[in-house]
Amino acid sequence: MANMADVLLDLRNVRAGYGDSVVLDDLSLEVKEGESLAVLGRNGMGKSTLFLTIMGFTRLTGGSVSWRGEDITRLASHRRARLGLGWVAQEREIFPSLSVEENLIVMARPGPWNLKSAFELFPRLAERRRAMGNQLSGGEQQMLAIARSLMINPSLLLLDEPLEGLAPIIVEELAASIGRMATEHGTTIVLIEQHADVALSLTRKAVVLERGAIVHRAASEDLLADSKTLDRYLGLKLEVI
Ligand SMILES: Nc1ncnc2c1ncn2[C@@H]1O[C@H](COP(=O)(O)OP(=O)(O)O)[C@@H](O)[C@H]1O
Ligand SMILES: [Mg+2]
Repeated sequence: MANMADVLLDLRNVRAGYGDSVVLDDLSLEVKEGESLAVLGRNGMGKSTLFLTIMGFTRLTGGSVSWRGEDITRLASHRRARLGLGWVAQEREIFPSLSVEENLIVMARPGPWNLKSAFELFPRLAERRRAMGNQLSGGEQQMLAIARSLMINPSLLLLDEPLEGLAPIIVEELAASIGRMATEHGTTIVLIEQHADVALSLTRKAVVLERGAIVHRAASEDLLADSKTLDRYLGLKLEVI
């Protein structure tokens, strides 16, 4: 039996949305320490809403959210962040008028992630350490947004479509860094991604969301090989490598 202490995040029968509109319905999801989970699904299916709900930014009308076995369903967002929940929003949030290095330093909290380890993970940021946030390319901004979240030393990092809109060469570079974050550093990640093939190769487990509900759960490597399911839910025909 799994040790309860291993469970970081536990959503049970969550119902949540915005105002009167319900987006997530009866959604249950567990994330264990050291795990990596891909959240897949077409546009508008509720993926970002899931992260917003985990962070406490939506209206929750049913179910519960627990963190390390403690109920945080009614806990304010900033307090969830302090407990170790890290979130990189779909909109890249960086300080445009601070340098790369300053952007990182202002976020720093004690833990394994620091300037040195962040620059090792993102060598491109090390080269650009004196550049201002607003002088960075889209890919560099995304790397900085992720590196900033790591500097807080979260126990779990939610990544919302980090590869969206980036050139293929940058996608490759950033995906490699995200992979190393999970495998070498053991950072627990939940990754929302449109590039299903990349997301599945970077994670161990996967769920597919459809209209606010989890309609499929699988080991990532199994789903990667399951073109029928991928095609059904994502309309994707992946080439078998
Ligand atoms: N701030 C909001 N207020 C009202 N409805 C929203 C808001 N954000 C998203 N939605 C709605 O919630 C549904 C799920 O959106 P979202 O979670 O952003 O999907 P995804 O990230 O999978 O593309 C959509 O129907 C969207 O229109
Ligand atoms: Mg989204």
